[in-house]
Amino acid sequence: MDGLHLARALLMPVQLAAVATSARSFAGNPILGSERLNRWGLHARRVALAQRLAAHRRDRLADLISEEDRATFARDGILVKRDVLPPGSFARLKAEIEALRAPAREVTQGNALTRLIPLTPGVQAALPETRALLASPAWQAPLDYVASTRVGPLLFIQTIISHATPGAPDPQTELHSDTFYPSMKAWLYLQDVPAEDGPFVYVPGSHRATQRRLWWERASSLAWREGDAHSRRGSLRVSEAMLERLGYGAPVTYAVPANTLLIADTYGFHARGPSLRPSTRVSLWAQARRNPFLPFTGGSLTRPRWVRDRQAAFFWQLTDGLARLGLARQPWHDVGHRRPGDPPGAGRAA
Ligand SMILES: [Fe+2]
Repeated sequence: MDGLHLARALLMPVQLAAVATSARSFAGNPILGSERLNRWGLHARRVALAQRLAAHRRDRLADLISEEDRATFARDGILVKRDVLPPGSFARLKAEIEALRAPAREVTQGNALTRLIPLTPGVQAALPETRALLASPAWQAPLDYVASTRVGPLLFIQTIISHATPGAPDPQTELHSDTFYPSMKAWLYLQDVPAEDGPFVYVPGSHRATQRRLWWERASSLAWREGDAHSRRGSLRVSEAMLERLGYGAPVTYAVPANTLLIADTYGFHARGPSLRPSTRVSLWAQARRNPFLPFTGGSLTRPRWVRDRQAAFFWQLTDGLARLGLARQPWHDVGHRRPGDPPGAGRAA
């Protein structure tokens, strides 16, 4: 047995075990990408089982949000909560975030630049109003419900600068599902997001894996080699024509005022709307994913604040190390200290 075959044989149990986790890459795991297994229905069955378990977990978290919000979420897969903070608190939160200068990382996708500042304990020390919000049920309860579990979400100040470079169009403007199972992303916008500045776009109801969707999931799992790089890694792109065939409605553009909290199940199809002019958008951003096959909502290692607030920086450092060894890709470039509203390339020095 040569080295390559030995490595493959050793990896097989790991790849097999990954079927029972959030692993999603067709290209990265020969079992998840297997034509024979997907013809049998491996991928579509994972989708269907993840949906059933998420519904079961959300039933157990029902008391976290109002009956009206539950009905809205069941119908749409997204919650839009305007005026989430009282005006005085929001003004203080916005001012403290705009004044922040902290360690940041950036990535350029197409012509858009995304900057993330992790909300580490050190950063939060300068953000008392933000810290109070993060500890409040008004923030955490709807996030837990949409995530269908109680984890400590990854927390960042996110800046999106459109038309930052002369690159190709922003790939995030293509409608896609983040992964094969219900997962959560949330944004609290610091500024108004008008229609021309590329607001969040979501296809209401596309968080539900209907029979037609499961048919499409199965077909996509068989044709992944023909897809783009994101689809091959398990974040499936969908065309507007296919949306219609799947029986979903038209995409909705969520142009919302400042102080709006938007929480979406990103199994549903979504995108960043095209930005018609240069714009800079700052938000408080959260993301939660967990093994979708867990039947329970508790016991998350990331839930304690001590872990929650350190996990983003920890994973970046871990990925830096793996990237140096050639074992991982680290697209997030350390750019030293930045303010959320800085223009691209401002103040290279830390
Ligand atoms: Fe996405």
